[in-house]
Amino acid sequence: MSTFWSIWISVIVLGTVFGCWWLLWATRKNQTTDTETDRTTGHSFDGIEEYDNPLPKWWYYLFVGTCVFSLGYLALYPGLGNFQGLLGWSQYNQWEEEVQVADARYGELYAQYGDIPVPELAQNEDAMQMGQRLFSNNCAVCHGSAARGAIGFPNLTDDAWLYGGEPEAILTTLHQGRQGNMPAKGLMPNMTPAQVDQVTNYVLSFSGRARSEEAAQAGKAVYDQGCAGCHGADAKGNQAIGAPDLTDDAWLYGSTYEWIEETVLYGRNNVMPAQSPRLSDDEIHILAAYVYSLSN
Ligand code: HEC
Ligand code: HEC
Repeated sequence: MSTFWSIWISVIVLGTVFGCWWLLWATRKNQTTDTETDRTTGHSFDGIEEYDNPLPKWWYYLFVGTCVFSLGYLALYPGLGNFQGLLGWSQYNQWEEEVQVADARYGELYAQYGDIPVPELAQNEDAMQMGQRLFSNNCAVCHGSAARGAIGFPNLTDDAWLYGGEPEAILTTLHQGRQGNMPAKGLMPNMTPAQVDQVTNYVLSFSGRARSEEAAQAGKAVYDQGCAGCHGADAKGNQAIGAPDLTDDAWLYGSTYEWIEETVLYGRNNVMPAQSPRLSDDEIHILAAYVYSLSN
């Protein structure tokens, strides 16, 4: 926050506290006057009048106390612009402390599984219950609570893999994250609209769904030039770069003509965030075993 805004906020906060105080002081009355007429505000409506009594003492002191409390609070905790408060408390270091406590408590629990190989750990019921909880907290937002994925988010329960389903591949995915990048029109930036239609039909023909056999046949040449470099001559994909197998019935995006055409026309860019700084190695190990268990 810049100094200007810091001062701005401090002035408003302190001004409000002192303003309340002043208002209270200025409107304070010590005594009730005795005569009937003086006891009312003089305001009358339909014969109904208002008494002009002083504030009850307890209420008055409670209000003063609130002002004093707020000044004490503002001295100890952050509240006045950039001033951090005398206690040095912040949401961030409170969170860090809580994480440390949780790590100390759960770290050991997780560590006991650290040395067990992934396929073996995937058979361990206790560990997999932990894995499921970790998955719900960290992965379900994207992959779904049942890990079945959604458009753009891979299904982790089938045996179609972008990057491979071996324990090592899953661990690498989790530790480092992944970035799936397909350039628009593949390796043929000058692809004509007719060629886009042809190669789309060719891709559909792998699953027997070409709209036009003729276009599909013409699409082979386009595919060999613009796509085979990544998806492979046999279109079975390439796990080193996360290029999907185009011949199976697992689709990261939709399987229709329109979806495939859109992928060809505009390309795709998709990110699986690295988990390493967020989760400990032991947590990632358990998660890898959990993911492994879903399809094995
Ligand atoms: C912000 C969304 C997001 C979160 C959170 C996320 N993922 Fe992913 N994940 C993705 C995307 C997107 C991909 C596909 C990347 C690509 O297309 O290259 C992916 C890919 C993967 C893959 C590779 C699948 C394959 O076919 O090779 C695995 C395994 C995986 N995620 C597991 C996890 C686990 C376990 C977690 C929780 C720790 C997690 N993901 C959290 C978005 C996410
Ligand atoms: C530079 C490498 C590269 C080239 C060239 C390339 N692709 Fe891709 N393609 C990818 C990657 C990587 C993905 C996965 C994108 C993601 O993770 O979101 C992909 C995804 C796709 C998909 C989506 C598959 C699904 O499961 O939903 C289709 C369809 C596709 N490509 C077709 C083509 C066609 C047709 C061509 C040629 C015109 C082509 N690709 C050229 C790398 C490439």
